[in-house]
Order: sequence, then structure tokens, then C-alpha cells
Amino acid sequence: MSDKDTLLPPDRSEENLDPEDWEATRALGHRMLDDMMDYMKTVADRPAWQEIPEQVVARLHEPLPLESADESLVYQQFKRDVLPYPLGNIHPRFWAWVIGTGTPMGVLSELLAATMNPNMGGGVQAPYLVEKQVLEWMREIFEFPEGSSGLLVSGGSMANLVGLTVARHVRAGFDVRKQGLHGSPKPLTVYGSTQMHSSVQKALELMGMGTDGLRLVETRPDHSIDVEALGRMLEEDRAAGMQPICIVGNAGTVNTGAVDDLDALADICQAQELWFHVDGAFGAWAAIVPERAAQMRGMSRADSLAFDLHKWLYMPIEIGCVLVRDNAQHRDTFSLTPAYLEQTVRGVAAGGNWFSDYGVQLSRNFRALKAWMSLKTYGIEKYRRLIRQNMEQAVYLGDQVEAHPQLQLMAPVSLNIVVFRYRAEGLDEVALDELNREILLRIQERGIAVPSGTRVNDRYVIRVAHVNHRTRYSDMDLLVQSVLEIGGEILDPGQKPE
Ligand SMILES: Cc1ncc(COP(=O)(O)O)c(C=O)c1O
Repeated sequence: MSDKDTLLPPDRSEENLDPEDWEATRALGHRMLDDMMDYMKTVADRPAWQEIPEQVVARLHEPLPLESADESLVYQQFKRDVLPYPLGNIHPRFWAWVIGTGTPMGVLSELLAATMNPNMGGGVQAPYLVEKQVLEWMREIFEFPEGSSGLLVSGGSMANLVGLTVARHVRAGFDVRKQGLHGSPKPLTVYGSTQMHSSVQKALELMGMGTDGLRLVETRPDHSIDVEALGRMLEEDRAAGMQPICIVGNAGTVNTGAVDDLDALADICQAQELWFHVDGAFGAWAAIVPERAAQMRGMSRADSLAFDLHKWLYMPIEIGCVLVRDNAQHRDTFSLTPAYLEQTVRGVAAGGNWFSDYGVQLSRNFRALKAWMSLKTYGIEKYRRLIRQNMEQAVYLGDQVEAHPQLQLMAPVSLNIVVFRYRAEGLDEVALDELNREILLRIQERGIAVPSGTRVNDRYVIRVAHVNHRTRYSDMDLLVQSVLEIGGEILDPGQKPE
């Protein structure tokens, strides 16, 4: 008997992963869809968040399954142990970090995308055209010139990494792809405000430029970059032997939603031959609301723009996007075609311009479908209205906070982020920080709402980052009322309702 023969079962039987009984799987699928529609429809009736009971935690820590199980039993466990304990972000009162809500159409699109299961690296397939179409729409929305390139990615972090990698490739002045940073006669540096998102730092660390390569510029009282301080830092750094390559502008900082003077940053980049990258993870979308477009002036002058569709376009996670003004520079940064990826002039490997030549990933999922279906179903006008609604709700919350003597607004409401705290006579700053942290935890633990916490001007604050299409003004009222009640209850435990 040869070694080859020993790999085969004696009866040469074959198997695959398709169901033996398609009708049973179809029925299960219908049940899942019904359950999920009900789950979304009734989300407001459930707590915004709840602890995971210990027995559930224990059940989700089990040995590797060795043998097959009935698919409906697996689904039952999902319904019992997973579905009731979400992070909470599809709930109308979830405003933590910056996490989008998702939509029923997004859910259905994911089903369709997984069914086709295309690899979006490239190739001749209609899904490729769908991503191209989505990128073309993004280019049009953000007023990038015709011929610009783009890529759908996992999210803002990856979009920043891709944009900054192109910046380094183009502005380093030596062949980074060949030499790495060994070719660098001077330390390469990137500039942005202290309020930049941590993903920019992560990107520079991954790119080998280190945190030393990230030069943080102080901000103005409204938390936007101090443009004069940036100018001075650039001058000083050059004199000290550094090589500035890029400025990162914030179109909505993660902490407070502050928007940098993007036009001024674009001017500096133009005058000093620097790459202009804009991180507009969520804030870029404010540009589609005409009353707010002026705030984003200069964004369309960026060499690269990073933004998400899973935040303020409410699409299911993961989907972000990077646009790059110069297609050739983008492609030059990443393109690599070994023999086994040779592109042909005919057949399935034809088409040119594979997406794998524009980013880090070779195999890529069909995230484009949820964008294509959502944009076609809802239309950009609906998104415009919803984004405006979110900003108006944020302003409303800010007004409620300011109207109440026991609450303090901790930064201007620039876009959709409201940071505030409860204040109490006679407590020092440290005690106030503690008090607000405790208020936040109780609001979360009681399932009332899920804001998150952060520090603004070195003070602990409750933060509402609002990219939730399900929120109503009454949800904001409930938050304010709960903060006041819980604050009072902590200061005077006798009040606590049992
Ligand atoms: C301004 C900003 N940039 C980048 C990111 C990272 O985006 P993602 O979480 O989609 O990777 C975020 C996330 O909140 C953000 O607010």
C-alpha cells in the first residue's frame, strides 16, 4: 500500500460541508431571519447593556468540538448564551466610543455577501465592479478629483495606516519599499494635534517610524490644532535635523469632535511639500450636511482621506474607506505581483487594478455590498437628514446640560460629541472625577444607557459620541435625568431607591 492510499477512507466515501437536508437548513435559516428581525425591532425594550451571568461565561468556555452537532442546537445556544449579551451598540441609547448602530438592510447584505463569498483581491467578477462603484460614489461625495483611487478597508485604523503608508512612500525621498527606514538619512516625522486618534500612533509604530516620529502639536481651547504652534514645530524640527513628511488633520477628533482648520493645514502642506492626510473617521460625514460643510473646508484638498462607513453611515462593522488623490502613488506603494498572481488579458484574472495592489490585504471580503445596497436603498439624502438629526440631538443634549446648574459642559459641541460632568459643591477635582466615573458605571450597569468616559483638560468626563440613527430626543432626556438622579443618590445614599 502506498502512502497516498493510506490518506483515503477504505470505502473512498467523500463528504462536504453542505447540509444533508437542505430543507431543514432552509427552515432554520428562515427561523434565524425571523428571530433577527424581531431582535432588531424590539431592541429598545431591552436594557442598553447587561452583565453576562457567570453560568453563561462558563458555557462559553468549552472544549474544542470534535464531532458534528445538530445545527439547530448550535443556534439555540447562540440564542441563549450570545444574543442576549451584546455590547449594546444597536440600542437607541448606546453612545460609547464611536460605534455605529447597523441596519436591517446591512444585516441582509451581509447574508448575500457571505453567500457569494467572493475574494475581493481582484479578478473579473461583478462584486469587483460593485466596490469600484462604491469608491466612485465616495470620491464624488468627498469631492476628490476624477481618477483618484480608494480602497474599502476594515475601518478607520486601517484607512489611516494605508494613507500614512502612501505618505511615507511618496515623501520619504528614498525607496522605502526597498531600503526600509535604513535608507533614511534623517528621522522622518509626521505632525498632528495632541487630540489625534491612537490609530495614527499605531500606524507609525507599525511603519517603523516609532512614536518619536509622531510630533504632537498643542491645541487651541476648542481642541483644534494650534496652526501657529505647528508652524514653529516644523521649523524647529527641520533645524534639529528631522525630515517632516506629513501633516494629519482631524475632521472630528475622537474625544470632543473638534475639527482642525483643514484649509490652513492644506496651505502649509502645499507650501512645504508635505503630504496632507485627513482622519475623518466619523466627522468627514458632517461635510454632506450643507450647514456644516464650511467646518470641513479644506478636507477635499487632502492627499489621502480616511473615514468609516460603520460609524456615521450606520453600516454593520467592519467597513472603512481610504481615498488617495493620486492613483499611481497609491498603487506604487503596495503593488506586488508574484507569478501566482499574474494578471492576464483574458479570463478570470484579467481586469487590471486589483484591489490587492492598493493595500495590505490580498484576500478581502465583500464589504462593498453592504455599502452599495445601503446607499441604493436609503439614498444619500436620507443619510444627510440622519446625520443632521444626530448633530441636532447632540446640540440639544449640550443645551440640556448647560441649562442645569448641577451639570457642566466640558467642551463645545462641535459635531456629535458631548462631554460633560456632574458637579457638586465642596468636592475637589479628584473626588469629582471619581463621582462621575461612578455615575457612568451605574448608568451602564443598570442598562439605562451606554455613554463612555474620557479625560478632557485632564478632568474625567462622561462622553456621548452620537452616531446612532435610533436615538430620540427623549433618550437624551432620560440620560440627563438619570445622571442627575444617580449623582444625587451617590452624594446622599439615603435617597437610593431599593
Ligand atoms: C477620529 C478617529 N480616527 C480613527 C478611528 C479608528 O477607527 P476604527 O475604530 O474604525 O478602526 C476612530 C475610532 O473611533 C476615530 O474616532
